[in-house]
Amino acid sequence: MSDENRYLTFALGKGRLAEKTLELMEEIGITCREMKNKESRKLIFVNEDLKLKFFLAKGPDVPTYVEYGAADIGVVGKDTLLEEGRRAYEVLDLGFGKCRMCVCGPKEAGDLLKNHKMIRVATKYPVIAKDYFYHRKHQTVDIIKLNGSVELGPIVGLSDVIVDIVETGTTLRENGLEVLEEICPLSARMIVNQVSMQMESKRINDIISRLKEALQKRA
Ligand code: PRP
Repeated sequence: MSDENRYLTFALGKGRLAEKTLELMEEIGITCREMKNKESRKLIFVNEDLKLKFFLAKGPDVPTYVEYGAADIGVVGKDTLLEEGRRAYEVLDLGFGKCRMCVCGPKEAGDLLKNHKMIRVATKYPVIAKDYFYHRKHQTVDIIKLNGSVELGPIVGLSDVIVDIVETGTTLRENGLEVLEEICPLSARMIVNQVSMQMESKRINDIISRLKEALQKRA
């Protein structure tokens, strides 16, 4: 079923995730030299020998490209997968980009959470926040969507708490906030288009098993 001349296309979330993904790919002999040029504004790269294509996209768009089959494979954070809710197979935890999705705020806000008060929650992740408060905690809250620097929410009085990613905790500490509740752990995941998984199962499963081996060696 697989066409030897068909390119397998990877969509990678721009930035550190793409860099780490390429490092891992190199460990299994998949390289794409032209992608390493940081000055370049090019968006799509080809490895003619291996019949692979790579493109860089904004993280939240990666699952969209994969769902519609514009990319066969995608690499993106679990946070984005949960938030975007796109159809794709999640096939591998790549082990990097580890962080946590948390409810954070000033210490005092802990009581508002405990007592299930009607609070305001600022976040870049309204789907994750809604799922957590409505379905897991059964707490009615007012969710306010922001696009970044979410830590400002409680500081300037926009919200009582935030739902955001915590990696080192530095941003919280430097702004007088703390983790109040942990929602879930996060890391980079590999996703595959559902049709590609069947049509290109041999090539894709081969890549997955070689990546798994490389990850085991790292551990
Ligand atoms: C993320 C996140 C936190 C910060 C956490 O922000 O939203 O602000 O990193 O990292 P830390 O625990 O190591 O301090 P990002 O840098 O992606 O920018 P943003 O605020 O624009 O989302």
